Amino acid sequence: MNEQTAKPENFVQRILLVMLTLSLTIVLAILGLYQFHKPNPYIQEVLARQGNEIQGHAIFQMNCAGCHGLMADGKVGPSLRVFLRASLIFA
Ligand code: HEC
Repeated sequence: MNEQTAKPENFVQRILLVMLTLSLTIVLAILGLYQFHKPNPYIQEVLARQGNEIQGHAIFQMNCAGCHGLMADGKVGPSLRVFLRASLIFA
């Protein structure tokens, strides 16, 4: 073993260098993943839809009202009114 690596200061410097390199690699990897992350096309398509109140109401009555109530105020399933209020606030 040569004398340079045996010194405690050099050992600490090496550890710090390795930790710095690892941190930098992880940060760059995360940035790279964000760079190439493509939004899910299905979610984008659904979010871009305009919607139709009349059709939506009919679909809700056919598929959801049996459990969530005709006015979404809860029956077997929980009330969905909180979601309606939230969608009005955050729309
Ligand atoms: C067979 C009965 C049933 C039907 C039909 C049904 N749900 Fe539910 N739903 C439930 C139950 C029970 C829960 C609560 C589940 C839980 O808390 O684990 C729930 C939970 C939910 C929640 C989450 C509520 C919360 O407070 O976390 C949403 C949103 C929801 N349903 C929407 C719908 C929609 C939209 C439809 C129609 C497309 C639908 N549900 C149809 C029974 C039903």
